[in-house]
Amino acid sequence: MNIGVLVSGRGTNLQSIIDAQIRGDIKSRVVVVISNKRDAYALERARNHGIPALYIQSKNKDPETYDSEIVNILKEYNVELVVLAGYLKILTKKFIDEFPDRIINIHPALLPCFGGKGFYGEYVHEAVLNSGSKFSGCTVHFVRPEIDHGPIIVQKCVQVFDDDTPKTLAERILPFEHIALIEAIKIIESGRFKIEGMRVKLI
Ligand code: GRF
Repeated sequence: MNIGVLVSGRGTNLQSIIDAQIRGDIKSRVVVVISNKRDAYALERARNHGIPALYIQSKNKDPETYDSEIVNILKEYNVELVVLAGYLKILTKKFIDEFPDRIINIHPALLPCFGGKGFYGEYVHEAVLNSGSKFSGCTVHFVRPEIDHGPIIVQKCVQVFDDDTPKTLAERILPFEHIALIEAIKIIESGRFKIEGMRVKLI
């Protein structure tokens, strides 16, 4: 599959896909990386591997115009799977409808808890700690118009420790995000799954 990755930040999840591709763990290829942030380090990671990396400015564009610009680029590169890897913009329904069940997102908590508007970056981990939860983790899911909502493909659990801070918890979860994302891509590559409501069943 041709993968298009949308990013806004440092891009360790993007790196995990590129590394899996180099190791031969996945058959898919990252064909384009797009960011709404000019200085996203993820763009540099892509360029280091000869992958086209584009910054698309979102300022003064309404969300639909912006998204259709991104969709056009993804189509130009024949993208078959869109991966949101730390992409901090909310996708319009129009965008999502262009890639039915072909957009996945990685979220650093166990959805359906601790997701939705405002639950990004350290806010997610802060909310987990404030809730008193003893476990957190990460979720890879198909994207639906509601934020951080959609059929769950892979989840990983980590323990929450008494002395955790949002930073230490985020650091413990991150390596599991990298693993979960590759597992999810492999499931999609295999085609051996079916989506029933919010459930992704392996077949
Ligand atoms: C990850 O924790 C991801 O789950 C979240 O943003 C972070 C991105 O990290 N949505 P990176 O840019 O892939 O290093």
